[in-house]
Amino acid sequence: APRLPKVLQLTLAVIKPDAVAHPVMLEALHQIILGNNFVVVKCKDLVWRRQDSEKFYAEHSGVFICICIGCCSFPHSGPMRAYVLAREDAIRHWRELMGPTKVFQARYTSPASIRAQFGLTDTRNTTHGSDSVESAQREIRFFFPDFCAEEWMEKEEPSFR
Ligand code: TYD
Ligand code: MG
Repeated sequence: APRLPKVLQLTLAVIKPDAVAHPVMLEALHQIILGNNFVVVKCKDLVWRRQDSEKFYAEHSGVFICICIGCCSFPHSGPMRAYVLAREDAIRHWRELMGPTKVFQARYTSPASIRAQFGLTDTRNTTHGSDSVESAQREIRFFFPDFCAEEWMEKEEPSFR
């Protein structure tokens, strides 16, 4: 299989429904993405059904999904915005910008992070980010079934010589 250039890594970033519902917050988060040297490779707004949330979070247990995903109304409560982002060290960098999962902890330990600044409750934490190369691949395929990373990465920069 073709190799991805070392310098660029892809990640999936999602602005969750609670945050998309605030026009000002949505715009602020979009600007944070643009301001941090990510290439926005793909971006789309979409709505999930409950089955999609459960499939996406299959790594978590059934009980966890019912209690946490259900209550924090994460993915199926309204439109969300998904991005394929490219950058050097994209996965780690986006997760660092988001901060810790729990908003109250984020406010304490990483007050400048996205979740600390924009989180609505402890677990309505505004954004998602892939946590490994494997999950980025799986999650990008989940949101963008037609996206071909190899095809996109192989395109060469225009040459001026
Ligand atoms: P998780 O993958 O552990 O966190 P992260 O988004 O930082 O990768 O959990 C997925 C989402 O589930 C999380 O963003 C918010 C929600 N969640 C809760 O509602 N309660 C919890 O205790 C945890 C750990 C997560
Ligand atoms: Mg996670």
